[in-house]
Amino acid sequence: MMALLSVQKLTKTFSTKAGLVQAVDDVSFDILPGETVALVGESGCGKSTIALSLLQLIETNGGKVIFDGHDFTDMSDRERKAIRRNLSIVFQNPYSSLNPKMQVRDIVGEPLKTIAGLKGRELNERVEQHLKDVGLGPEHLRRYPHEFSGGQRQRIAIARALALEPKMLILDEPTAALDVSVQAQVLNLLKKLQAKHKLSFLFISHDLATVEYIADRVMVMYLGRIVEAGQVSAVFRAPRHPYTMTLLDAIPSLDPDDRDRLTAPVGEVPSPINLPVGCAFAGRCDKKSQTCLTTKPKLTDFDSSRKVSCHHPNSGEITQ
Ligand SMILES: Nc1ncnc2c1ncn2[C@@H]1O[C@H](COP(=O)(O)OP(=O)(O)O)[C@@H](O)[C@H]1O
Ligand SMILES: [Mg+2]
Repeated sequence: MMALLSVQKLTKTFSTKAGLVQAVDDVSFDILPGETVALVGESGCGKSTIALSLLQLIETNGGKVIFDGHDFTDMSDRERKAIRRNLSIVFQNPYSSLNPKMQVRDIVGEPLKTIAGLKGRELNERVEQHLKDVGLGPEHLRRYPHEFSGGQRQRIAIARALALEPKMLILDEPTAALDVSVQAQVLNLLKKLQAKHKLSFLFISHDLATVEYIADRVMVMYLGRIVEAGQVSAVFRAPRHPYTMTLLDAIPSLDPDDRDRLTAPVGEVPSPINLPVGCAFAGRCDKKSQTCLTTKPKLTDFDSSRKVSCHHPNSGEITQ
């Protein structure tokens, strides 16, 4: 099957007063139609920078983003706009991502009006339908974002993201800012909408329990690079990269009250400003050798369904 999204050698650095921040370093991956792929990693590892790069909301330093057969990195703004209809994003914070001065019907209706050119009754009907899809009714149409709870606001953001019936949704920690009791409802809604509209998801999260629940495949990121990728069930059962192993060990429990706490593995995250020459995880890794300090490992096939970027991947038998 042809990939819906193909990311090739994506690189993004930020210049800051302290120096160059290597936020995304040579990242490549594909997402198939209808697939949910999770991107996980600790705060600051580059997840949101990837999301913004995919949408070309920030300029990248190198690499290609091919969406639906079109190269985003090599087209005019107008062409990109036409294709961007098929790729939407939902941000983490529903408090800052919705315009506080707009009524819900205008928030959801805006892309329908400005991009699809709908108006009048047709526009109103479509807005009502999209709100109904996320569990909101006609009584909500004329209200403003501040009149809603966090969960409801995220539903509005989802309705807006789906207004143009995209093929793919990027979800950047869509439930991280919500109360635990509301998180499951929003996740279930996303699953339902995905099945209904046959959507692909790039699901960004630092919560492994959520990833296990929602994703088919998972990509684990560490300091701007993907260190392990594969089927969720396989990666969770038998992680091969030492970083993935520490992440999974750090899951405190499946108790919903503390499951989203991702305890940091031992050692410090190196600054993305002065990355080590070799493996960026070496400083925190108990398997490191001399090679790890001098040579950056490449993401390569470990087996038919797994890629690992490590000189000493865990190759032990899978017990269970
Ligand atoms: N606009 C920016 N200017 C400078 N540095 C940035 C900017 N955006 C992100 N960064 C840096 O890039 C790295 C990756 O950030 P980000 O993609 O937000 O990580 P994540 O979403 O995984 O928490 C971090 O070190 C962050 O400080
Ligand atoms: Mg982020």
